[in-house]
Amino acid sequence: CGIVGFIGKEKRATEVLLHGLEKLEYRGYDSAGIALINEDELKITKVKGRISALKQAAEGVSPASVGIGHTRWATHGEPSKENAHPHQSASGRFAIVHNGVIENYQQLKEEYLADVRFASETDTEVIVQLMEKMYETVQDTEEAFRKSVRLLKGSFAIGMLDRERPETMYVAKNKSPLLIGVGKGFNVIASDAMATLKETDQYVEIHDMEMVLVTTDEVTIKKFDGTTVQRLPYTAKIDASDIEKGTYPHYMLKEIDEQPIVLRKIIQEYQGEKGGFAIDASIRKAMKNADRIYIVAAGTSFHAGLAGKVLLEKLANIPVEVHVASEFSYNMPLLSEKPLFIFISQSGETADSRAVLVKVKELGYPALTITNVPGSTLSREADYTLHLHAGPEIAVASTKAYTAQIAVLAILAADTANEKGRKLPFDIMQELAIAANAMDVLTDHKEEMEKLAKNYLHSARNAFFIGRGSDYYVSLEGALKLKEISYIQAEGFAGGELKHGTIALIEKGTPVIALVTQEHVNYSIRSNVQEVVARGANAMVISMKGLEQTADSFVIPKVQQLLTPLISVIPLQLLAYYAALYRGNDVDKPRNLAKSVTVE
Ligand code: G6P
Repeated sequence: CGIVGFIGKEKRATEVLLHGLEKLEYRGYDSAGIALINEDELKITKVKGRISALKQAAEGVSPASVGIGHTRWATHGEPSKENAHPHQSASGRFAIVHNGVIENYQQLKEEYLADVRFASETDTEVIVQLMEKMYETVQDTEEAFRKSVRLLKGSFAIGMLDRERPETMYVAKNKSPLLIGVGKGFNVIASDAMATLKETDQYVEIHDMEMVLVTTDEVTIKKFDGTTVQRLPYTAKIDASDIEKGTYPHYMLKEIDEQPIVLRKIIQEYQGEKGGFAIDASIRKAMKNADRIYIVAAGTSFHAGLAGKVLLEKLANIPVEVHVASEFSYNMPLLSEKPLFIFISQSGETADSRAVLVKVKELGYPALTITNVPGSTLSREADYTLHLHAGPEIAVASTKAYTAQIAVLAILAADTANEKGRKLPFDIMQELAIAANAMDVLTDHKEEMEKLAKNYLHSARNAFFIGRGSDYYVSLEGALKLKEISYIQAEGFAGGELKHGTIALIEKGTPVIALVTQEHVNYSIRSNVQEVVARGANAMVISMKGLEQTADSFVIPKVQQLLTPLISVIPLQLLAYYAALYRGNDVDKPRNLAKSVTVE
């Protein structure tokens, strides 16, 4: 979910909120709403659906100088107008927007709110009803707010308005991200600086278990125990033009095309003097000291971790385990003596990953975050950060962040190898530059992928991606891309494993997309292709130059064997893109998903 708020001299709240929510839509888009205070009236407008629908609904609302807004990714309660935020207290005096999950909401309901009639099924409404109950006793908004948030267990970023005190916006945070943007004659709140970058580039961080009183001219941060905290703003370094899609029909296509540019930027940023790498000495030391690396991530970042494992093990000679974040905390493997944790996260906000980081820090182990957002929670809370330099990724389906993650892991692996005195068989920066050129070639061949998508996937019910070695890991990512945006049921499989069960699903015409980029398994993966073709599959072989056969559907340029995931994923991203287009789906905002999932 995403939150935005505005308080200022001018009556610009509606405009700032709607623009901000549009920029936050990547955090969820099943329903949305705003609350404004105007002439002592608290007016709430909310809709089921996108911000575009909210814009229509908000046409004609009176201009206001204070307001809060929300775009939702449903957790408790289905997507509906009733369950959309802002939520209001029974008397209508207080309105609240919330991102996160209140774990003890049932208990709070029973203990404090047994006599209250609830208008929604959300855990959020409990907060605002609790607020009103507390106010009845203490007759002071700030005190009631403090008392309420102190009772909450779980994750929350909260913005609250009190109809009777329109000069203040009340804010609280624990675990979920939230920033205060500081302006001249106004202040804003936002889940992500991107939402309000048009207004200001000055932001103040809020830490967990802090509340903030925001007025037109002041930002007062307090701990939950009431003590005041002083904190200076920092400058958010995001280029506003990076978050526009320009002439592209979709962000996803723009981001696919940006991959060679990002890769070159990474080479430039990590190129050290005298042929070395620009990697912090402390990170170098942590890598050298580790006897085993635990990569923790979710979704596409997890898949990048798998590709990275091969690089780290082969180049740096460190054993690596890759774990899905949501499983890790309670399904923890036995740890080695000197583990190093690497969190891979595009957004740096994924709650599943953060939960593991908190645990890792409790246990006292070192942690490195590899992220596209250096000021993010995972970056702030880890000991070290490596930046992806991919620029804002807006499309929900991740593309350029995936290749950036693999490239940074490759450089990290090469740097560690250097440090350990291991001689590398190739120059990694040079090979990455070759890969960037290969990416250019691929992004210039869109029509062919479009045709293949049409022929193979247009009316497909399901699809399989197969590969061996690194190609297997990329198959997993190819299948995820296709699922996310085309809604075709897809699975990535190790070529050799398919025959042990899943091959039962192959029917006449089932699309099977095989990746062939690894010389040492060229023969065996091609046998797997024959096995499925013999059972009626419609096989599409994507091979690498040098390994190609005449019947192959598409040949990608040759790159270093260990770096093929950077390249082979691009045709798969394009396949997913065009398959989704043919099906008339919303490519950038697929159903049920959110780009940044800040609940566990
Ligand atoms: C969400 C997104 C995925 C993403 C995953 C991890 O589920 O929809 O595209 O891969 O989160 O996100 P992160 O920001 O941690 O890389």
